[in-house]
Formats: sequence, structure tokens, C-alpha cells
Amino acid sequence: MSDRMLSVTMRINGKDTDPVDLPEDLMLLEYLQEYLNLTGTRYGCGQGVCHACAVIHDAPGGPEVVPTCITGVAWANGRSFRTVEGHATRDEQGNVTQLLPVQQAFLDHFSFQCSYCTPGFVAAATALVERLEAGPVAREDVEDVVLEALNDNICRCTGYVRYLKATRDVILNTPGLTTGEVAASDTAT
Ligand code: FES
Ligand code: FES
Repeated sequence: MSDRMLSVTMRINGKDTDPVDLPEDLMLLEYLQEYLNLTGTRYGCGQGVCHACAVIHDAPGGPEVVPTCITGVAWANGRSFRTVEGHATRDEQGNVTQLLPVQQAFLDHFSFQCSYCTPGFVAAATALVERLEAGPVAREDVEDVVLEALNDNICRCTGYVRYLKATRDVILNTPGLTTGEVAASDTAT
């Protein structure tokens, strides 16, 4: 690890972090886990392949998914991110009062088993939903955009089908995310 330090602050889950001096080659994943105690972002491959560590980067052009194991704090400095801890609505005591539609759908569809991969899938599916809010997709293309959006996420318990179905159902059942006629098969699970 580099001896050179960098003063870092960023926006995490809607709050600005206190500036802290970090090794300039520290990865964002280590910063989240070791400095902010946000351990919901998971370490899997450590090589940018599995996306267990993915979070949402709120970029100027819209939400994008970044694998934090290969994303340095030097690049992340000053930027805004959402981790799995930041998605649900909470009350003043910090208790979850409402999940995101994607999170609820993953539960309803029994999408995960061990759940190690789930934070990354939540990030990918949520970023997709938010991109579709800005630019809806034709209903007949939903399957393809979901496959493309979740293509980088690896689930070692092989729960892919239920993740895909859950994401597809959120998109098809949320007004404004699609264009075209509703078919009876669209809402079948
Ligand atoms: S742990 Fe980051 S992509 Fe696998
Ligand atoms: S649910 Fe176990 S790795 Fe995906």
C-alpha cells in the first residue's frame, strides 16, 4: 500500500463523510467497510468480475454501477455513492420502514439463498430502474435490458432466474418505465 496519503471525503447514502487521510491507492470497498463500517458491500473476487461489491455511483449523467474492489478512493473522492445500507426508508431510530421495490421483489421472488451476491444485484437492478425512469424501454425489450443490466453479477448459489424475474416484474409493473401495450403474460411470474 502506498505511503502517500490523500484527504478524502465523499457523499455516501445522502450524507457527506468527514474528511480523512487515506492511502491514495486504497480501494473504495475498504473505505466503506473499514472506515465507515458499511459491511453490506461484499468482497468476492477482488478483481472486478463478480460485482458482489457493486454500489451505485450517482454520476452527473445518471446512476451507474461501480465495482468498489477495483475503484480507488482517489477516483471516488468528492463523488456520491449509494450502498445497500442506503436504499430503504428508515425511521428516526434507524429501523427500516420501507424497502425499495427491487429489494421487496427480491424477497417476494425468493431470489437469493446465502445472499452474498444480493447487494450487488440490488445496485444493478436499482440503477436500471432509475435509468428507465429517465428513458422508458419498449415492453418487448424488457427481458433484454434486464439481462444486460444484471449480466455482470455472479451468484454462486445460481439464483439468476429469480433475480431476473423479480427485476422484470418491477419494471413491467411500475408505471412510466415501459412503453407499449400490456400483455397478460407481462405480469405472470
Ligand atoms: S469483489 Fe468486486 S467485482 Fe468481485
Ligand atoms: S445467493 Fe448465494 S451467491 Fe447469490
